[in-house]
Amino acid sequence: GKVAVLMGGFSSEREVSLNSGAAILAALKSKGVDAHAFDPKETDLSELKTQGFQAAFNTLHGSYGEDGTVQGALEALGVRYTGCGVLASALGMDKYRSKLLWQALGLPIPPFAVLRDDSDFAKVEQELGLPLFIKPAAEGSSVGVHKIKQAGELQQKYRELRAQNLHGEILAEQFMSGGEYTCGVINRQALPSIRIIPANEFYDYEAKYQRDDTVYMCPSDLNDEDEKLMRNLALQAFAAIGGGNNCGRVDFLKDADGKLYILESNTLPGMTDHSLIPKAAKQAGIEFADLCIQILKIAYE
Ligand code: DAL
Ligand code: MG
Repeated sequence: GKVAVLMGGFSSEREVSLNSGAAILAALKSKGVDAHAFDPKETDLSELKTQGFQAAFNTLHGSYGEDGTVQGALEALGVRYTGCGVLASALGMDKYRSKLLWQALGLPIPPFAVLRDDSDFAKVEQELGLPLFIKPAAEGSSVGVHKIKQAGELQQKYRELRAQNLHGEILAEQFMSGGEYTCGVINRQALPSIRIIPANEFYDYEAKYQRDDTVYMCPSDLNDEDEKLMRNLALQAFAAIGGGNNCGRVDFLKDADGKLYILESNTLPGMTDHSLIPKAAKQAGIEFADLCIQILKIAYE
């Protein structure tokens, strides 16, 4: 049947989504799928029914598309769709509430604080140490993430972020100097981990999509034991938010002592030619087009 590739949308990650969508569209077509681009910003979602689509391949990153909103609408419309359902999407998009869940399960997460207007910012800086990260809890692709290096900067940055009306609470998070990693999952199996070495200070939006000097190590530099641990933690973290057998990605940090921490989960990981899941899948012997077909198949299970 006809498959709609949902791309674009309304979030701060619209551009990323258009790129993911274009790559997926081409891949599905190369495999003989009757796939068509569908941007809910231009066409109302309810048209999926009237235009005769049987399934939606969802690649709408960020709010609306990744946070359970679209998933709920598709449930109501009775259109099957790829990726996580309403609950896992909503939880995965919310870095604050997913942390609470992982914390409750005893999974390792970096020390953090929720910032509010009346927070004692100096105390947060002191307790978490500098540098630290400040970020909106429910955006993706590092939108709104800043590294705070000097005492007194946190409050100022908090006010700036508040003024931008980004989604979710605003969090402060301890910096970890041992490196950034990510681990994809699909069909309850973890893919090989990737180490990300950005030329920037951290793996920000620019390093993700606009620069070609970010280094991706896949296989990563983890020893066998840590590789096993990371894969296991990725599966546990994804299962905790209710990701089921869907495709997702869990991001990690390593501290100076080599301990691994779960940073966040992504229920609609990027699928652009710069993206991580396609690299990890390739390392595991899965070509991009086959990965797309696997993801589509899960929607029919
Ligand atoms: N939020 C971006 C698309 C990612 O996780 O890859
Ligand atoms: Mg994310």
